Amino acid sequence: MKIIRAKDYKDMSRKAANIISAQVIMKPNCVLGLATGGTPVGAYAQLVEWYNKGDIDFSEVTTVNLDEYRGLPKEHPESYWSFMHKNLFDHVNIRPEAIHLPDGTNPDAADACAKYNEIIHSVGGIDLQLLGLGPNGHIGFNEPGEAFELETHCVDLTTATIEANKRFFDGNEDLVPKQAYTMGIKTIMQARKVLVVANGLAKAKAVKAVVSGPVTPECPGSILQMHPDCILVADEEALSLL
Ligand code: GLP
Repeated sequence: MKIIRAKDYKDMSRKAANIISAQVIMKPNCVLGLATGGTPVGAYAQLVEWYNKGDIDFSEVTTVNLDEYRGLPKEHPESYWSFMHKNLFDHVNIRPEAIHLPDGTNPDAADACAKYNEIIHSVGGIDLQLLGLGPNGHIGFNEPGEAFELETHCVDLTTATIEANKRFFDGNEDLVPKQAYTMGIKTIMQARKVLVVANGLAKAKAVKAVVSGPVTPECPGSILQMHPDCILVADEEALSLL
């Protein structure tokens, strides 16, 4: 795994956005695997800034997002569909039909996941997958203990993840959905390039486990040590235990 050190959040965001824009410039019709969470917000803001200056063009790009809460309407302000539109899609020239997220409104989990797998296969797989890290080392919503060989599937969120994400739901964990549809580790590992972003002390333990801990489903992100082209962009705080 290649590690790029950033001074702070702003620097991390800019360096990550650079890697994403290089991908789009090299292959204008690329497939970007995108992530939600607080960490990538700055990178998306940087991409929007460059788009407004005419430096990046999303007209041929296709996106597939990592995950979506099960049972939230798309228009719910905390659905990942809303998150992605608010932070990126509404501000750039991506074609609406090129945007894909798991369908959290489909109550039939097997059907929703099978359809999402089909989409990922039909677009030819992922050129660059962006990932944040859960404090417990999860990627997407692949929680500790899950099998590495899964594609899109339905997961029960752990108490730790519900706790970490309740800040987006008025601090009320009862309002946090308890399940999600997530791309599996197999799909993530099949991406041709993986870009992990992490910042802040709260991620230092997870970063250490992902970069230099044992490769084990107990820390889902640790499998990235086996990926042939994985870059971690992290700030000083997130790298402080290495
Ligand atoms: C959620 C998302 C993950 C994300 C994680 C960390 O659980 N499903 O994809 O990486 O949160 O989020 P944050 O970047 O806000 O710390």
